[in-house]
Order: sequence, then C-alpha cells, then structure tokens
Amino acid sequence: MSAVLIDGKETARVIRAELKEKAAALTAAGMRPGLTVILVGDDPASCSYVTGKKAACEELGIFSDSLHFPADFPEAELLKIIGEKNRDSRIHGILVQLPLPPHIDENKIIEAISPEKDVDGFHPVNVGRMVLEQECFLPCTPHGILQLLMRSNIDTKGKKAVVLGRSNIVGKPIANLLFQKQAYGNATVTVCHTATPDLAAEIKEADILIAAVGRPATVTSDMIKPGAVVIDVGVNRIPDASKKSGFRLVGDVDFEAVKEKASYITPVPGGVGPMTITMLMANTILAAGRALKNKEKKTC
Ligand code: GUN
Repeated sequence: MSAVLIDGKETARVIRAELKEKAAALTAAGMRPGLTVILVGDDPASCSYVTGKKAACEELGIFSDSLHFPADFPEAELLKIIGEKNRDSRIHGILVQLPLPPHIDENKIIEAISPEKDVDGFHPVNVGRMVLEQECFLPCTPHGILQLLMRSNIDTKGKKAVVLGRSNIVGKPIANLLFQKQAYGNATVTVCHTATPDLAAEIKEADILIAAVGRPATVTSDMIKPGAVVIDVGVNRIPDASKKSGFRLVGDVDFEAVKEKASYITPVPGGVGPMTITMLMANTILAAGRALKNKEKKTC
C-alpha cells in the first residue's frame, strides 16, 4: 500500500491565506510587518532560499528589505548593519542566511540580533526559552514539521520518534519539541548522528522518522517500520542532464521505495521546504503583533 502524501505546498498555501489576513490587520493598525533578509556571498542554494523569502513577503504584504553582500564582506560591517536593523522600527524580523563565509563568526552574528527580532529562533535567548517551554520564536523548519504533523492529524503522543541529524537548525530543536509536554509533543525521542553505531536498527524502531542529514538515499525501505510516518527534511542537489538547471532536488529518503512501506510521507520538493518559509512569515507577523502590543502598552 502506498503512503499518504503530506502536501507541504498545499498546507503552506492554507497557512499563508491565514497569515495574509493577519498581516493586513496589523498594517491597518499601523504596524505593517517588516523583514530584513541578509545574504553574504553567492551560494546558489542560499540565493534560491532568499528569493523564495522575498516572494513570500510580497505575497503576504510584508515589507521586505533584502541585503546582499559579497563573500568577503567584513564581520564588523555586518554587525553594524544588524545593529541598525535592531533599531529600525519598520523591521520586526532579521534573518541572516546561513551558512556564512568562514571568516564570519556565526554565533557572534546570531547573538547580535535582538531576541525580539530573531524570527529564525536561533538566538540563545529564544533557544533557551523554547527548551523551557516559554514564549519564544520557534525555529522555522521544526515549526513547519509540527504544523505538517498537526494538520495531517498525526498524533505524536506516546510514539517513538527518531531524528536523524543533530544540527542547530533542525535536529536539536525538533527532537526537543517532539518530547515537550505539549499537544505536538509527548513522543519518546532518539537522536541519531555520525557516531550512532547502528543507524538501521534505530530507524527500524521509529513510528515517526525525521530525516535531516543532507545526504541522498540515507533512508532505504528495508530500514523502515511498516506504517511509519516519514518526514524528509533533506534538500540535496544531484546532477540531472535532463533539467535546464542541470540538477534536481532529492531528500534524504529513497522516496519511491519508502512510500510503499510508510503510512505518511513528505516529498522533496514540496514537503517541508514550503513550510519553512511560511513559518518565517508567521514569526515575522508574530513579532509585529508583539511590537504593536508593546506600543499600545507604552501609550496607555
Ligand atoms: N540556512 C538553511 N536553513 C536556514 C534557516 O532556516 N535560517 C537561516 N537563517 N539560514 C538557513
């Protein structure tokens, strides 16, 4: 039996329609949401993500301020610009596209962003608040995954979830969120990484599998427990002469074979990807809403 396809594109479309209304209401109240996206260098995948973020802002009526700097842009200049955007009242969200060139200290840049404008949810203040289950910005890809699970009526409570990968952007936060005492949590979570001795044995236990390693065909159908829910976060470019671009995108999962064994599966492209940008828009709107509340409090 073939798995149900979790359609990230359609789910993102539904959420974006909800967000468009929220953005319009904030604009009418004098607080048009605004996002600054900063790209340093010309990494093709990063350029493509940034283009998608700009287009989403336009679609939702969010003010977008995109800055693109050369790969040798000095760290001190970048810090200065972040400081300016922290003080700019038109801007509610600041995103610096990662990875950054090696001469720039990623942690220093993330920590320079005001936690109130950290719509990526990467600042240690937001990470700490997330772990403590306090009000924060949830990181966009994990938040998008939770939305896909919730909107597909997939219950995580009491399930065994296995996360492949321990990155700060996906693996660590999604593992944490899945075991939290929340509607989307209460799973028993295992995190696998490069030092896991028997990856296949761990995957075999998974009711819910989150693959975020960035390597094609890491997950094959023989590893999958029949009926598992498979969320593929990988976005890998592989050469394909039949494409105009010369490549095609695949995930970390051998989709064609695994879909015959899973109960639910996300495709690549069209699964988690569209949700990441959508949750970035949601966080930007949330930040603008909080800014409006603070302004109203001050004028009371
Ligand atoms: N690079 C890959 N994913 C992300 C993301 O979610 N945010 C930022 N800032 N950079 C990324």
